[in-house]
Amino acid sequence: MTQGLGDPPLPVWRPSEAAPPPSPRSSAPFRDVFSAALCGVPTTVVGLAEAPRPLRTDDWTRTADAVDHAMVAACTGPTVDLGCGPGRLTEALTAQGRTALGVDVVAESVQRTRARGCSAVRRDLFASLPGEGRWDAALLADGNVGIGGDPVRLLARAARLVRPDGRVVVEVAPPGVVSRSGWARLTGGGLTSSAFRWAVVGVDDARAAAEAAGLQLLEQVHHAGDRWSVVLARH
Ligand SMILES: C[S@@+](CC[C@H](N)C(=O)[O-])C[C@H]1O[C@@H](n2cnc3c(N)ncnc32)[C@H](O)[C@@H]1O
Repeated sequence: MTQGLGDPPLPVWRPSEAAPPPSPRSSAPFRDVFSAALCGVPTTVVGLAEAPRPLRTDDWTRTADAVDHAMVAACTGPTVDLGCGPGRLTEALTAQGRTALGVDVVAESVQRTRARGCSAVRRDLFASLPGEGRWDAALLADGNVGIGGDPVRLLARAARLVRPDGRVVVEVAPPGVVSRSGWARLTGGGLTSSAFRWAVVGVDDARAAAEAAGLQLLEQVHHAGDRWSVVLARH
């Protein structure tokens, strides 16, 4: 596809058109490798950066810290926690007396979220979810805006989950981080996962991504350290 002179510039995070990298002879489902990682198997992410990076499961299995609580505070009313992992944020929302639902494709994540006393469903967030269009807020914490490798599609999906006056709270990468989209795999415990699409959105590109998804940027927040989040609203 060619770009016309009058067209807006293509976003740097546009979904990768490249074919997935060739599968090793015995690739395992993402859910198996991710579940093993949650259970303590050292695991790395390959493909997101130049060198493999450790999968930071400790960041998800711990309890919420001050930054997490600040993002929770930005989620007004009943909130759906998209890609909840082991339930760190769903737990923080629930502890504040909110109606909160964790959503995750991995059974181990859902079980761990429920073990924290929270509600959670095992579902692809792009599939039909409870409370479609009625949530006050949708939360995409940690790098979850990268799920699926197409942030505009994901933000538009989150927007459809919330009420017309609802909001989407999104953790993004710090300033200077180049937004990108591509294929990644998990490797750990002798297993390599099938390839999955992922993206990174830096805070510098948050407004453009939001607007392309039909949302407006209400607020941009710098938390402690290098953590950033944005609050988006439907028009
Ligand atoms: C980076 S972890 C984030 C965990 C959690 N948000 C946190 O900050 O503690 C990403 C989670 O998203 C889940 N996930 C990936 N793709 C998904 C999809 N299409 N639908 C629902 N969950 C998904 C993974 O299973 C994983 O638990």
